Amino acid sequence: MCNHGCGQAFAHLRTVVRIDILSAVPRLLDSWFNESILERAQKKGLAEVHVHDLRDWSTDKHRRLDDYPFGGGAGMVMTVEPIHRAIAELKAQRDYGEVIYLCPDGQLLDQPMANELSLKGNLILLCGHYKGVDERVREHLITREVSIGDYVLSGGELAAAVVSDAVIRLLPGVLGDETSALSDSFQDGLVSPPDYTRPAEYQGWKVPDVLLSGHQANIDAWRHQQALERTRQRRPGLLGEAGVQDQ
Ligand code: ADE
Repeated sequence: MCNHGCGQAFAHLRTVVRIDILSAVPRLLDSWFNESILERAQKKGLAEVHVHDLRDWSTDKHRRLDDYPFGGGAGMVMTVEPIHRAIAELKAQRDYGEVIYLCPDGQLLDQPMANELSLKGNLILLCGHYKGVDERVREHLITREVSIGDYVLSGGELAAAVVSDAVIRLLPGVLGDETSALSDSFQDGLVSPPDYTRPAEYQGWKVPDVLLSGHQANIDAWRHQQALERTRQRRPGLLGEAGVQDQ
């Protein structure tokens, strides 16, 4: 959005991004979307998050969502039918840019992926449970598989919350300061430089002089150097990928 008020003037033309989360344990996500930035984004009418109980689409008399794996082995597998019915019902009501399955062996979420997803419009996020879903869900119903890290969670709900947060905060107008999402760590291939606020000195711990100098060019140069140095120390892999150079 521009910084001369156009965003406000055309706010009514913006399409609301809608995220539908399909879960076997929807209660896990109850509080998540009713707080802070995500709550504000929904109140401002910029995003909608709907958490659905997959059992509502189960035709089983006990509303079961899982069954034993063919071929034997430990653990249960989520069946195709309720997931298919849920996704079909949602897709009949509106268009979705992606139908995402959260799973440990998906593509690793990073900032470029979050940026890309924030431009996709509506999203369906399917949370796995138990051993995961029947493979035919992955073959026929899903457009993308996403992992939030190389570790196994008990379900996809936390991952769905992470993806939703990373996406929603990028939508125009969600963050108070329009530039703040752009200055996030990773947006320019670097981690963020350190921030300080008042007091300028606390128990002898001082804020770097340059930040108090009022000299914006020096401050910008210092921040860039700090970001480079921190990236070198903490995420050296990013420097290779982004090809970021010293100024
Ligand atoms: N479900 C279980 N573990 C997960 C992970 N690491 N990322 C996304 N979904 C998951």
